[in-house]
Amino acid sequence: MPELPPPRDPSGPYRVCLVCLGNICRSPMAEVVLRAAVAEAGLDVAVDSAGTGDWHIGDPMYARARAELTRRGYDGSAHRARQFDPSWLAGRDLVLAMDASNLASLRRLAARAGAVDRVRLFGDAAGMPGTEVPDPYGGDEAHFARVLDMLEAAAPRIAERLSALLSDEPKSSPSR
Ligand code: 4NP
Repeated sequence: MPELPPPRDPSGPYRVCLVCLGNICRSPMAEVVLRAAVAEAGLDVAVDSAGTGDWHIGDPMYARARAELTRRGYDGSAHRARQFDPSWLAGRDLVLAMDASNLASLRRLAARAGAVDRVRLFGDAAGMPGTEVPDPYGGDEAHFARVLDMLEAAAPRIAERLSALLSDEPKSSPSR
């Protein structure tokens, strides 16, 4: 399993951006779940999310996505959708795509920015190689429940890998 990319700035939080197509279903759900997992693990990790598309900029989370989060004790009410801006590649340590199509879009942007290694599939980062989070937009409650099952399985695994990565990383140069 490839290592997660090292922090750009070991003195600041490790920054993770989660990306899907519309930023109203999968990536904002993943943002809430991963944020809870890194908090639980006591990690200095900042989590945000975006979509590759621009259709929903400014919209809240899709109602069924938010409802499924609420059912399991999370709060998705603060979310407003954003489109991924290529300039963000310079400020994120890790950009995680929900599916292979999102990954291909991000890789095209990242190739131009020289940041291809920072862009990964969410499932790969969780040690679930090749696993894609399926697009639930327009689906019923069961689709959203399945997405949240996957996110809740993956997030603690990502947090565990981040914990290993960040504990390996010297915070400053050793003094002598
Ligand atoms: P998401 O779901 O990528 O998980 O946010 C979608 C939301 C909106 C659209 C597609 C997928 N759309 O085509 O508008």
